[in-house]
Amino acid sequence: MKQLVLAITVLLVIALMIGVGVFKLGLVPVNADVPPSGLETRFIPIAVHASVANHAEEQPNPMVPTDENLIAGGEVYTVMCARCHGVPGRGPSVLGASFYPPAPQFTVQPSGYSEGELFWIVKHGIRNTGMPAWGRLLSDQDIWQVVAVLRRLNSLPSAVENCLARLIVDRNDIPRKGLPLTMAHG
Ligand code: HEC
Repeated sequence: MKQLVLAITVLLVIALMIGVGVFKLGLVPVNADVPPSGLETRFIPIAVHASVANHAEEQPNPMVPTDENLIAGGEVYTVMCARCHGVPGRGPSVLGASFYPPAPQFTVQPSGYSEGELFWIVKHGIRNTGMPAWGRLLSDQDIWQVVAVLRRLNSLPSAVENCLARLIVDRNDIPRKGLPLTMAHG
């Protein structure tokens, strides 16, 4: 029995030394210009989803989706989020695709998270990805308003769409100044 415990301990120490060696010798790739590995695309999202579900409060959006709230949320989206998550009416974001993992394109596929979970993600961000913690820059009200828009990005009332289209045209300065932030120019 004693010998078995000793053998297991030795094996664990060797495994730990190999693990530390792999990290210390720089054998872990850190470049972001390859598609995430199968292991990362399969297991990390499980941890992220579980953590979000565990930390987020399951609550309805206190911001009623009136045109006013959707325009306010749409402004936040256009100014703060669209460059990574996609501009409505345009192609996916090149910048968003360059992250590891890539930024989801809400104009192509809406997020599967509930509004309470989206609120938590936007406020707190996601570690070790390009997704910032917006709670330092935006009020809770701003965040709920942008969450209302995330949910309806492809089905906004036309009054809101028109208002945002004007804002997007005004902000056309970004791609026109030479940074190809979207794949298709509208
Ligand atoms: C600098 C790029 C960048 C900006 C700007 C950005 N995000 Fe993100 N966001 C990301 C990346 C990258 C991910 C993917 C993280 C992951 O897969 O774990 C992400 C993930 C998310 C998710 C999780 C969605 C899902 O279904 O997995 C939400 C929600 C989100 N972002 C909302 C926002 C909002 C709202 C804004 C603006 C206030 C914003 N993001 C601004 C890069 C960005």
